[in-house]
Amino acid sequence: MKYDFDTIVERKQTHSTKWSKFSDPNIIPMWIADMDFICPREITDAMHERIDQGIFGYTDTPNELSQILKERIKLNSGWDIEEEWVTWVPGAVVALNISCKTALAPGEIVVTPSPIYAPFDEASKNMSRGMVKNFLKDNNGRMELDFDATESLLSKDTKMLFFCNPHNPGGTVFNKKEITQLVEICEKHNVIICSDEIHSDLILQDDLRHFHLASLNEYAKLNSITILGPCKTFNLAGFPLAAAIIPNKELREDFVRNTKGIVSHIDNLAFVASKAAYRDAGEWHKELTEYLKENKRILKEEINKVDGLSLSGPEAGFLAWIDCRETKLDAPGDFFINHAGVGVHDGEWFGNKNYVRLNFGCPRSVLNESIERIQKAFSQRN
Ligand SMILES: Cc1ncc(COP(=O)(O)O)c(C=O)c1O
Repeated sequence: MKYDFDTIVERKQTHSTKWSKFSDPNIIPMWIADMDFICPREITDAMHERIDQGIFGYTDTPNELSQILKERIKLNSGWDIEEEWVTWVPGAVVALNISCKTALAPGEIVVTPSPIYAPFDEASKNMSRGMVKNFLKDNNGRMELDFDATESLLSKDTKMLFFCNPHNPGGTVFNKKEITQLVEICEKHNVIICSDEIHSDLILQDDLRHFHLASLNEYAKLNSITILGPCKTFNLAGFPLAAAIIPNKELREDFVRNTKGIVSHIDNLAFVASKAAYRDAGEWHKELTEYLKENKRILKEEINKVDGLSLSGPEAGFLAWIDCRETKLDAPGDFFINHAGVGVHDGEWFGNKNYVRLNFGCPRSVLNESIERIQKAFSQRN
């Protein structure tokens, strides 16, 4: 490997949200979705060069960024977007919120998957819109859509459906057949789909590929908001930046109007980092994916040896959704944190307290240490 994913980098002194969460220094933080890997020189060199210029005023979106994104999407999936479809915003969560404001009038409702990354739930509340939960099914560890339940939730007031593909926390990469069925239901009920696809660059199985929902057909194209961004792929969470891709002109103009006065200027270093990442860090991304595949393989093998725990995914990303139902623990998250010393994300935050989410985007030695702790704590349980 050309790049180093093994070195442990001290992060506590940087006010890292991940590393500041637990007051007990012996707990290994494996919760929030950023990775403990250093960005490659291809990104940091570009940032150094920008910093050395020394003036950090309000900055327009560099035209090349949408062009680079367009070329990247075309190359990776064949989806042919136009640059003008892209609106850049400071982070995917901003796009989720603005989508609620745009697609729903007060009193209208969004269908939101459950479990889900909590800001999806919060977006409708923030915008004073309604929300109904669409519970996913656990099919032998793969979190799947329940199409009948989904359709039963659609009424004249449900005007948008949130989709998260690859899914966070479940790790499912929804395939074309599943997406086709979902779009058919949405078309029947005239529902817009907001599809968060920010984990789609990190597919961990050779037999899977990401399929952009908006590329399915004309209905999906004209009734969707696709959210993509470099922050998960290149570990740039501290520089929030995401693309909302909206082919429908009217919907796009509404979306842009709704950002006015609310959404701040994008950080100029976020532009620099993201451009360098997309343009120059392809090799790092490839090696990262291989490293994550191996971390996942080890984690899955070892977690499944523990009585009561079960893990089958994720099919993408660096977040493992561990099924703890068979442990019969009331609060599995608490057990991992306070008995094993492994600072997982409690499943309750995503809507199911019988699971925990573990971030394995870390050096292998840290992963191995956390696995040993989990195995020891569960073996000593009485
Ligand atoms: C599905 C999903 N959407 C959005 C976000 C947050 O993105 P951002 O930091 O760009 O707002 C995350 C972070 O974990 C996520 O998993």
